Amino acid sequence: MVFDEINQKVGTPNLHAALPYVAAESRYSNMAYRRCGRSGLLLPAISLGLWHNFGSVDVFEDFEKVAYAAFDNGITHFDLANNYGPVPGSAEENFGRILAHGLGRYRDELIITTKAGYDMWPGPYGEWGSRKYLMASLNQSLKRMGLEYVDIFYSHRPDPNTPLEETMGALADIVRQGKALYVGISNYDVEQTKQAVAILKEHKVPCLVHQARYSMFDRWTEPGLLPLLEQEGVGMVAFSPLAQGLLTNKYLNGVPADSRAARPNSFLPASSITPDILAKIRALNALAEQRGQTWAEMALAWLLKDRRVTSVIVGARSVNQLMDNLKALEHLDFSEEELTQIEKILG
Ligand SMILES: NC(=O)c1ccc[n+]([C@@H]2O[C@H](COP(=O)([O-])OP(=O)(O)OC[C@H]3O[C@@H](n4cnc5c(N)ncnc54)[C@H](OP(=O)(O)O)[C@@H]3O)[C@@H](O)[C@H]2O)c1
Repeated sequence: MVFDEINQKVGTPNLHAALPYVAAESRYSNMAYRRCGRSGLLLPAISLGLWHNFGSVDVFEDFEKVAYAAFDNGITHFDLANNYGPVPGSAEENFGRILAHGLGRYRDELIITTKAGYDMWPGPYGEWGSRKYLMASLNQSLKRMGLEYVDIFYSHRPDPNTPLEETMGALADIVRQGKALYVGISNYDVEQTKQAVAILKEHKVPCLVHQARYSMFDRWTEPGLLPLLEQEGVGMVAFSPLAQGLLTNKYLNGVPADSRAARPNSFLPASSITPDILAKIRALNALAEQRGQTWAEMALAWLLKDRRVTSVIVGARSVNQLMDNLKALEHLDFSEEELTQIEKILG
């Protein structure tokens, strides 16, 4: 529920910022929660990521509504990192403001994650995987969000020049200090994951989760990583499950001016939307229509049909996009014929 609705309810439309957010009572009625590996933690099947759309370049009132709509619909898991913005750090600052505006009263119903690994501040201690960087970065993240602890802290990427024992040792100590309840890794390959999981086990601080890029268009996790995580009892959350918006109907007729591909220095350059990709997008969109779903809904459902995938972290720029993504949960089953058709289209 957002300010406008609360204000309408109490009949005081001009008290806009005066009333804090109050969550919808129905928030747990439709979401499915899945166990993260063999841990005690349940995560919503759909989570919200704040990599884009929550920075200082974005409109606070717009993304605040997305965060509230998420929680109102059972999304308890908000995924951040030290560098999310732009500018780096601003997504955490903005999320701190959202918590202060009322979401924070539900702190015990929230799973808030952050990460460190990418370039964050100048000098030798502002990126990668040293103990110095991870500890300092988490302290900064906690300050920006106004939190005493995060629920999950990630090593955002493996560091080829720091012993893995040091990076994992820092993660274990962060848990012991009470600054994170759980730890995870992201962007580690299969071998690095095997080693990281083993080292954390020695520290008696299990690796809760691996956060990996996974979508219909990027399936590197399937042959080695997913079987390893299942065997080790580690959860898997999929990032960029819509391939940053490619797996939606938005690029069917060109690149819309407000889309990610149209932004300068985008991680999804318009040049990546090749005729071959467009042909696949069109064929899959048609299949989604036959299933009575949007293409985005089908792309998410296709990931969630695999129980090893604990959650998909979507990035939504508007409440409409978020609500569309949530509808994926209404139809997760695929017939053998549909699955074969999808494999054929993906080639
Ligand atoms: N660990 C890592 O290294 C890593 C890396 C990347 C991401 N992540 C995490 O994963 C999260 C999600 O990544 P992502 O933003 O790339 O995810 P995504 O869900 O694949 O892409 C999000 C974009 O897709 C479009 N979109 C979403 N729902 C839509 C819908 N229903 N209809 C039409 N378009 C829709 C929007 O693009 P437009 O803005 O064009 O409308 C949105 O900004 C991040 O926020 C972050 O938390 C982690």
